[in-house]
Amino acid sequence: MVTGATAGIGEACARTLAEAGVHLVLLARRGDRLRALATELDATGVDVLTHAVDVRNRDRVTKFTDWLEDVGVTVDILLNNAGLSRGLDDLHDGSHEDWDDMIDTNIKGLLNVTRAILPGMIARDSGHVVNIGSIAGHMVYPKGNVYCATKYAVRALTDATNLDLVGTKVRMSSVDPGLVETEFSLVRFRGDAERAKTIYEGVDSLMPEDIADAVYYVLNQRQRVNVLNMLIMPTVQRSPFVMAREEVDR
Ligand SMILES: NC(=O)c1ccc[n+]([C@@H]2O[C@H](COP(=O)([O-])OP(=O)(O)OC[C@H]3O[C@@H](n4cnc5c(N)ncnc54)[C@H](OP(=O)(O)O)[C@@H]3O)[C@@H](O)[C@H]2O)c1
Repeated sequence: MVTGATAGIGEACARTLAEAGVHLVLLARRGDRLRALATELDATGVDVLTHAVDVRNRDRVTKFTDWLEDVGVTVDILLNNAGLSRGLDDLHDGSHEDWDDMIDTNIKGLLNVTRAILPGMIARDSGHVVNIGSIAGHMVYPKGNVYCATKYAVRALTDATNLDLVGTKVRMSSVDPGLVETEFSLVRFRGDAERAKTIYEGVDSLMPEDIADAVYYVLNQRQRVNVLNMLIMPTVQRSPFVMAREEVDR
């Protein structure tokens, strides 16, 4: 199960997993994009089930996962990827709406899906949850306040859930990227494409498939191996504050 499969990292992970023969359940709000991706992935021969859902909607998430159970679909892998940033403001200028979007999606959305899927994994004593965190969960940056707080929360939840899972075979990992070129900045700046472009200009940033490779690695270790956290930065970005910009030929 991949949340946030309609763009960026989630979409790249869906492609990589399909190529590896993994049957997929793809979630996000934009149903048209989910269906287009499912049609494209037909060629890989894996089963692709899509469901347009907002991970913030706990009832709808739970109804869907209950339905999956009823029809006999078990989730062996959960990739908690759906997430977003909104705005880039000092805290004292911040928008309540932006805060709600980030906290409700990045923390509570991840919890909603995890709470629905993890009991089945524990009952089967098998499964792997991979959370997409961020460098923003390791270091704060100016005006990143609430987004960073949500990613620190994801990191805490990965660590804390691993304590809860001790003695089971269920694994939880997090893959935490630095700058990845996706729709993330477009969403952060509410569709301002010019402003979003400036974030990636002159930066040989990570691409979604780099993170998909990392997720694939994490998922393909021997049962005895649990990667708790994989922090991945672009070579040109050694911290949120230290980045080399130059002409990039993509
Ligand atoms: N890009 C970066 O530099 C970067 C760095 C570190 C970590 N991350 C993290 O990586 C994850 C993926 O981001 P991305 O960079 O790939 O951004 P993206 O291209 O904007 O993709 C975000 C995905 O999340 C989905 N999503 C957002 N809100 C949702 C909701 N309420 N319910 C269901 N799905 C929702 C979106 O689908 P719909 O709009 O169709 O719902 C979309 O598929 C996020 O957790 C982000 O925090 C990104």
